[in-house]
Amino acid sequence: MSEFYSLKISQIDKLTANAVNLKLELPQNLKDSYEFKPGQYLTLKADINGESVRRAYSISAAPSEDYLSVGIKKVKGGIFSTFAVEKLNEGDHLDVMTPLGTFFWTPNSNIQNIALLAAGSGITPMMSIAKSVLNSNDTSKVLLIFGNKTVEEVMYRNELLALQEQYPDRFLLEWVYSRANVPRTQFGRIDKGIINHFFKNTYSHLSFDDYFVCGPEDMINTSLSTLEALGVDEYCIHFERFVSNTPKTESAPIANGTVQVNVILDEVDYQLSCDSKTALLDACIKEKIDVPYSCHGGVCSTCIARVTKGSAVMEKNEILTDSEIEEGLILTCQAHATSSEIELNYDDV
Ligand SMILES: Cc1cc2nc3c(=O)[nH]c(=O)nc-3n(C[C@H](O)[C@H](O)[C@H](O)COP(=O)(O)OP(=O)(O)OC[C@H]3O[C@@H](n4cnc5c(N)ncnc54)[C@H](O)[C@@H]3O)c2cc1C
Ligand code: FES
Repeated sequence: MSEFYSLKISQIDKLTANAVNLKLELPQNLKDSYEFKPGQYLTLKADINGESVRRAYSISAAPSEDYLSVGIKKVKGGIFSTFAVEKLNEGDHLDVMTPLGTFFWTPNSNIQNIALLAAGSGITPMMSIAKSVLNSNDTSKVLLIFGNKTVEEVMYRNELLALQEQYPDRFLLEWVYSRANVPRTQFGRIDKGIINHFFKNTYSHLSFDDYFVCGPEDMINTSLSTLEALGVDEYCIHFERFVSNTPKTESAPIANGTVQVNVILDEVDYQLSCDSKTALLDACIKEKIDVPYSCHGGVCSTCIARVTKGSAVMEKNEILTDSEIEEGLILTCQAHATSSEIELNYDDV
């Protein structure tokens, strides 16, 4: 079960004018609880202007490092990211949920070549993956294709250059800039042309075992379709969305009136009733049941539960596969009951 602990910010590094890396101190007694795989994320929680706000942030540290760290880029009008970049100080404490996420690299004993396609703050989980792959043996190679508007907006630039110096033959770093002409880099966005250029030409002599993609939604969609057109097996392609612009589906039929909900969380049963139009997560939060959630927008997967009685429909889902849905899994932040009684089990996911 995911839990929040209060962790101290031991160091804040300004990565760009609008982005910071927060290093979080990890006490010895919590090391096991915060074990993570490279690519996973933390949910941070803070009181901002009298409201409890939580957001997901990918871990930039490698599991071999003895601290946690996250990279946060301020988005225009963003509540949490503005607070993190402008208001947090070294020595402050944040409530931090234990790591979660299905976007991660799994080490194995084989030599592996890994391709990373990142844009903007999408670099954060890639930092953890790149360091972990490169440190795992003396042979595996990592190709990082990293897109930004300008050099000034590059998060982790110094760390990436240091990594390149440390592994000159194994860390293959390709910069792409959409608003700056920089020698020995690509001009444009990470699109079909640029992806084909690298995989069909520059690195056609290498074969890659896994592909990780993280960035804005259109960059993810283009990368997925281009890699698939290049013949990459879909099971080798992993992607993480930070935000989703996909509209909710047309409202599906939902139960009429009031729904009786039984919630199983940490082996405790809770009964509540809610209006059928209320998302099941919101109904639980209203009753102050401490159910897990993070993005509230159907992209992070923190809020998954299993429907063990009754039925529900999701307004938006870009995470669960058809077979997981058939097994009864739902994103509770996106789900409404379609039966007048429903049981949600958060323990059985
Ligand atoms: C699994 C996961 C991992 C994530 N990892 C990181 C990370 O490593 N680093 C990081 O900086 N962010 C990351 N995010 C995004 C982060 O959780 C927040 O969504 C982001 O910081 C904006 O939150 P906010 O409270 O500042 O903005 P909000 O107040 O929630 O939103 C304000 C406005 O900004 C828009 N917006 C929200 N997010 C973005 C975005 N990413 N880009 C552009 N516009 C946006 C919203 O649509 C809204 O219009 C991750 C998200 C997920 C789901
Ligand atoms: S809270 Fe992120 S998917 Fe539901």
